[in-house]
Amino acid sequence: MPQYFGKLPTAGQEWTTLGNVQSAQWDEPSLVCQCGEATLLLTVLDHNLIRVQVAPTGAFAAQRSWAVTKPDQEWAIVPVQFQEDSETITLKTEVMRVQIQRSPCRISCFDHAGNPFAQDAEMGVGWSASGIAAWKQIESDEHFYGFGERTGLLDKRSEEMTNWTVDSVDYSSQTDEMYQAIPFFTALRPGLSYGIFLHSTYWSRFNMGAEQPGVWQMHTRAPELDYYILYGSEPAQILKTYTELTGRMPLPPKWALGYHQCRWSYESEEVVEALAQEFRNRRIPCDVIHLDIDYMQGYRVFTWHEKRFPDPKALGRHLNQNGFQLVTIVDPGVKHDPEAGYAIYDEGCQKDYFVRKPDGKLFHGYVWPDKSVFPDFMRPEVREWWSDCHTALTDAGVAGIWNDMNEPSISDRPFGDGGNKIPFPLDATQGPADEPATHAETHNLYGYMMARAAREAMEKHRPHQRSFVLTRSGFAGIQRWSSVWLGDNTSLWDQLEMSLPMLCNMGLSGVAFVGCDIGGFAGNATAEMFARWMQVGLLYPLMRAHSAMTTNQHEPWCFGDRIEQICREYIELRYQLLPYFYSLFWEATQTGAPILRPLLYHYPNDPKTYSLHDQVLLGEWLMAAPIYHPGQEYRAVYLPEGTWYDWWSNERFEGPTHILTHAPLERMPLYAKAGAIIPMQLVMQYVNQHPVEELTLRVYPGEGQNILYEDDGDSFDYQSGAWRTTTYQVRQEGDRVIVEAIDRQGNWNPGDRTVRVDLQGRSDLEVDFRD
Ligand code: GLC
Repeated sequence: MPQYFGKLPTAGQEWTTLGNVQSAQWDEPSLVCQCGEATLLLTVLDHNLIRVQVAPTGAFAAQRSWAVTKPDQEWAIVPVQFQEDSETITLKTEVMRVQIQRSPCRISCFDHAGNPFAQDAEMGVGWSASGIAAWKQIESDEHFYGFGERTGLLDKRSEEMTNWTVDSVDYSSQTDEMYQAIPFFTALRPGLSYGIFLHSTYWSRFNMGAEQPGVWQMHTRAPELDYYILYGSEPAQILKTYTELTGRMPLPPKWALGYHQCRWSYESEEVVEALAQEFRNRRIPCDVIHLDIDYMQGYRVFTWHEKRFPDPKALGRHLNQNGFQLVTIVDPGVKHDPEAGYAIYDEGCQKDYFVRKPDGKLFHGYVWPDKSVFPDFMRPEVREWWSDCHTALTDAGVAGIWNDMNEPSISDRPFGDGGNKIPFPLDATQGPADEPATHAETHNLYGYMMARAAREAMEKHRPHQRSFVLTRSGFAGIQRWSSVWLGDNTSLWDQLEMSLPMLCNMGLSGVAFVGCDIGGFAGNATAEMFARWMQVGLLYPLMRAHSAMTTNQHEPWCFGDRIEQICREYIELRYQLLPYFYSLFWEATQTGAPILRPLLYHYPNDPKTYSLHDQVLLGEWLMAAPIYHPGQEYRAVYLPEGTWYDWWSNERFEGPTHILTHAPLERMPLYAKAGAIIPMQLVMQYVNQHPVEELTLRVYPGEGQNILYEDDGDSFDYQSGAWRTTTYQVRQEGDRVIVEAIDRQGNWNPGDRTVRVDLQGRSDLEVDFRD
């Protein structure tokens, strides 16, 4: 971490805190309080959404709108009761109350029952040479989740977390700074949840009681404090509001939900074609092949290697004919190449699109192509130019873009010379002339804006088909532009274990389409580890295996027949579950709900779920309790309230309870909840192999509803009505299980196909299916 961002001073020292409220003016929907020189601005955006801003100088800088898609003026005014007396000012909405104490100025929130939350601690708000901060109380039974990309386990109470994007190569459970910076979290205790979105792209840090038990702090190097308080009785409501604020993911093509195969690198057309054929020969379903950096000519972005990839169009065509989609890596570093007639470098220089140092000279650092320059993605015209460069890829049939090294990852000397990772000079100017900003302000947005350019490229150059975008770095709201993978993990058992809480916290940070490298990127997976990882990979919203250059091959068939068969079985299960997965993806586009969920998401009043990091829900109805230790065949599983069925044996359990389950290498413990209606299809070798001819509703007796979402899976026609939702309901009447389509919306026609019910768990019951 650069010196500039030294450890923050201890609370109580050097800080000027917000003084008494000297005047207060309520002008719906905002309250302006004058506190000495400083101004506090509180805006009620919705019944459960309050924006708090503090300007120490009294004057607020011009609004920045990089991450928030719904600016203040677009929220409909909601009724607020305003009251004041000599000690306090109160704003009351339908669901919550905000109370401002006058001397000194401190903010507290309460739910309708009077339970406090997000209450300012003694320090309240303070500023110093190190930036501006707020201190708030931790309630005794409160736990914290989200915070973007985080190593370690699920609950972040007592931890300190920095928001500053870095190339976090070789990360471990102790690593703080990661590739993504998402300064948002959700607090939870039984019956009460709230979220805090720190609206600052500058360096920031959350300290959740690590310094002072009972107090959490947020600190940023921004000149003012700007944060949103989101209230709800459970995390689902918080996430819905947060994604209304920062945007939701677009619906991906259905093939992106299939299995992805990647390696650094499949280094030639022959290797790629052989790989594709190997999947088909072995009948292991696969939809996507990723090309890593070696497809380029000397790592020059937007080129193809002349010898190894002489005919990318033919490659794209062959792969397509064989049911594969091609995804190519795109790195931001443009080779400094003044002599070679490299169009991207020449054009970027000529149009002045690369970031300059404060002294006006072109900034350069070292990445794969060695000396490189870096586009300023903050400028719309640079993004547009960059987008257009993607035709070098889309013309060859590339259907997805994989953005890497975009923290940005830059070395201060040639690669291989053991250099240090450096950011741009923090006072380098970026952004358009009418909205210039320093790199200190825009650093965390580099990957975010690059991914935005990739998304816009694909929408422009593949206007009739949905595309896939993947990024390593991003900021709050990245879900609007891209899916995310968790960078360079390692083939270690603890990294397999950690992948679940990491992905769950990403989901609770608004990023539903996430995955991490199956098998581990660095190092060599053992056969057993690879099998277990593939089982867990079935649960990842993005199911991609990837491995680094110097490692052993990690394709599903590289570990012997037994492991190959396990990989095949779990990849096949993924394909069978695609109708269920696709409906969850659709739900994420509508509400921001994660696809992979920690148990606390659906059982927020059950404290036993609060630190349960090694069990996950896929939507509401499926729960997995994977094995992530070598040599282990048994594990304890917590089943929350309700009736649960073992997916494999149909054994029935009444929760809440703990059970010990047997899980030999072929089995990942998986459970369905009573009332589940899991839409499934037959195994296909790739998503678009043929239309779904038979849909099976795998039903578990009980009471439940599930929405099945369908469309053509590929085009944008769903945006003009070519989609369909079917709400299926299951209930039991005597010895009959009634499965009924109770609601249908949209007008997509799935064509001729059969739908059947496959009742599990109770052979004594009769099925009555009303479709
Ligand atoms: C970075 C990426 C990794 C990729 C490699 C080579 O380490 O995180 O996924 O394979 O670069 O491009």
